[in-house]
Amino acid sequence: MLARIKDLAEALKPRLIEIRRHIHSHPELSGQEYETAAYVAGVLSSCGIVVQKAIGKTGVIGELVGRTDDRLVAIRTDMDALPITERTKLEFASCQAGIMHACGHDVHTTVGLGTAMVLSQLGEVLPGNIRFLFQPAEEIAQGAGWMVEDGAMNDVSAIFSLHVFPSIPAGSVGIRYGALTAAADDLEIIIMGESGHGARPHEAIDAIWIASQVITTLQQAISRTQNPLRPMVLTIGQISGGRAPNVIADQVKLSGTVRSLHPETHANLPDWIEKIVGNICQTYGASYQMNYRRGVPSVQNDLALTQLLEASAKEAWGSDRVQILPEPSLGAEDFSVYLQKAPGTMFRLGVGFREKQNYPLHHPQFEVDESAIVTGVVTLAYAIYQYWQKPG
Ligand code: NI
Repeated sequence: MLARIKDLAEALKPRLIEIRRHIHSHPELSGQEYETAAYVAGVLSSCGIVVQKAIGKTGVIGELVGRTDDRLVAIRTDMDALPITERTKLEFASCQAGIMHACGHDVHTTVGLGTAMVLSQLGEVLPGNIRFLFQPAEEIAQGAGWMVEDGAMNDVSAIFSLHVFPSIPAGSVGIRYGALTAAADDLEIIIMGESGHGARPHEAIDAIWIASQVITTLQQAISRTQNPLRPMVLTIGQISGGRAPNVIADQVKLSGTVRSLHPETHANLPDWIEKIVGNICQTYGASYQMNYRRGVPSVQNDLALTQLLEASAKEAWGSDRVQILPEPSLGAEDFSVYLQKAPGTMFRLGVGFREKQNYPLHHPQFEVDESAIVTGVVTLAYAIYQYWQKPG
């Protein structure tokens, strides 16, 4: 079966490159993936896949029905681009001013379509049912939630996904056990003191000084009260307050981002922060308001599915082309929203050039080695085929 999947994917290579270049030159921003969705729906229909449009606003779902196994497997790829002006010299560079596929979602969409093409050609041999999720708005961490709300995960027993990675060479894949990305939440704290003359601090409540205590204590408390084996980062990226150099500030606003990997740490963060802020404010007579907004949770790859992915990738490419990633990323990824509904795993698809400089994701000169598309298709298609070879 592996040889057949490889042959099918290799035969599709010119078509897949054509698809990828079309999507790359027609990027659309998060939530506005109308043309991409229509294009995806067209390709899916042409290989006999039942298509539902406008799932999760601008998302698309394709369903492929297999022979007997009633376990439904989902493959998720994302379709949106970024508000970046492309500075590559590619002949198929973006023709939308100020919008670029700089995070490789054009490659993801193409790999999703290629996997659909390959699996639909397996026909009779295909053991179970597959749902292809083409998701909008990953860059704003909203699309997965929209898809789930519209029932995209109903009856799904496992879900697979991928993200391109320029620091892994094309032809190789990266597998990660456990946490792959971090939970990312937004934090806003407003500290309210009392204004007064800069020369008479005892008659005022200095919100700037109290804010500085809050920031310092939060950073120190991470090292003294959080488990060091469960990393977290709290960054206050914005601070504003005060009216004049000789007036004690009555109000300061702090805004930041909070990243964490362990689900338990993540669950306790709002209480942990609020206790520190509340105690400091109380000690010095200030009041406060805290707004803690949950972003996406951490992507936690399922053990059994990751083992299955690793084994099938090693069979397909050999051990030296399958890297076990030692570290997670503190970036965020809304694939975690699907994982609240079913176990799944996401791998990193190497797209790096061996002989050329590799720019990072979200860079205006980001490029991919397109040979990686076939690697992605075979890895996904074969892992999914293998999924049905194991008893459910
Ligand atoms: Ni991305």
